[in-house]
Amino acid sequence: MRMVDIIEKKRDGGELTGEQITWFVNAYTVGEVPDYQAAALMMAIYFQAMNRRETVDLTIAIVESGEQLDLHDTIPFVVDKHSSGGVGDKTTLVVQPLVSACGVPVGKMSGRGLGLSGGTLDKMESIPGWTPNLSLPEFKEQLKDIGLVLAGQTATLAPADGKLYSLRDVTGTVANVSLIAASIMSKKLAAGADAIVLDVKVGKGAFMPTVEDARELAHTMVDIGTDAGRKTVALIADMNQPLGYAIGNTLEVKEAIATLKGGGPADFWEHCVTIAGHMLLLAGKADTLEETKELARQARDEGKALQKFKLMVERQGGQASLVDAPDNFRQAQFVESLYAQRNGFIAEINAGAFGWSCVQLGGGRQVKNEPIDHAVGFIVPLKVGDQVESGDILGTVHANDAYKLAAAKSNLLQAIKWSDTPVKPLPHFYETVS
Ligand code: URA
Repeated sequence: MRMVDIIEKKRDGGELTGEQITWFVNAYTVGEVPDYQAAALMMAIYFQAMNRRETVDLTIAIVESGEQLDLHDTIPFVVDKHSSGGVGDKTTLVVQPLVSACGVPVGKMSGRGLGLSGGTLDKMESIPGWTPNLSLPEFKEQLKDIGLVLAGQTATLAPADGKLYSLRDVTGTVANVSLIAASIMSKKLAAGADAIVLDVKVGKGAFMPTVEDARELAHTMVDIGTDAGRKTVALIADMNQPLGYAIGNTLEVKEAIATLKGGGPADFWEHCVTIAGHMLLLAGKADTLEETKELARQARDEGKALQKFKLMVERQGGQASLVDAPDNFRQAQFVESLYAQRNGFIAEINAGAFGWSCVQLGGGRQVKNEPIDHAVGFIVPLKVGDQVESGDILGTVHANDAYKLAAAKSNLLQAIKWSDTPVKPLPHFYETVS
């Protein structure tokens, strides 16, 4: 087969065969197709779309690009979650320990930053020494020993997703239903999940701009999971404003730790407890969502979830003392706050603008495999609907470059819109697809 024929076929709106998709995925994984041709195909798919059959074929080809984990010799039932990506989305760092502390082991394969969205692995690497690079035996052993593992795509697990993911990050080809569905579901299927909770974000800080788009993505992934025999549920969650207050790798880890300790922003905690509740429900821990959410709350209040998180950090080589003393995380050189110049109500906090601004500060990548600056980002302690008085804090920028600091301060002011009259708060969730 010739790669150029496959690119041209999709560019002209054609339907790729299963053989063509599998050939491309395998050839790209082993380095026979260069990045520039793979990027051209991603862009053709972005514009021309894939139908359901092509999407399923792409998912399966990515799953089969590596090994598939069967964890049943280690734990009886494997439950997993994945977010479609959003700004300030540090959910995994809280949900995974909550669920594990309720007696349901979670072994998760996460990703790095993608476009405007931060990535769990980048966030966790704010903790010096912590590594997501585990061999399959190490993954299983840790899951058995402490019931909690957080790993990345590896040379053996969904390797094609690892390569395509970092390529899409920097080629403007993230926001496509088929590419996102195949990327997420291939990781979940390869990691051997029996039950999957999908956190599909919608809005200005997500890859799906409207609830209709998010619904299509949710249905596509739920269908793929269900057809593969996995219990799959998707929640459509708002991502017009950042989740929680912190945006940026270290800042988000600190916020996740604060949340596990019983603090943290209310919207973020509500989000985490709901996702954890759905995971525990699928795992059969109780009969109703209210009951499983209560189990998750108890796991936090009794300090068990925090302990789990610390154990995972330690086991994966990270400096666990930072969990006890998060003030010791390395801080950015410039930390500057901006204050309201007027009274009023917050009408918008544009999550997308904050996400891209964080990338510009160095918190995400502009080119493939670029090192990132973990310390930079924003704290925006506001939510849509809040009443603010002149002099109240609007946000704090963390930067390591004076020029970028100035740009970020201007971005922050532009991303926040005001109203003179009361504004309704945004919902946490729109709907559930199962
Ligand atoms: N998360 C993923 O793993 N892949 C995507 O494409 C988007 C979010």
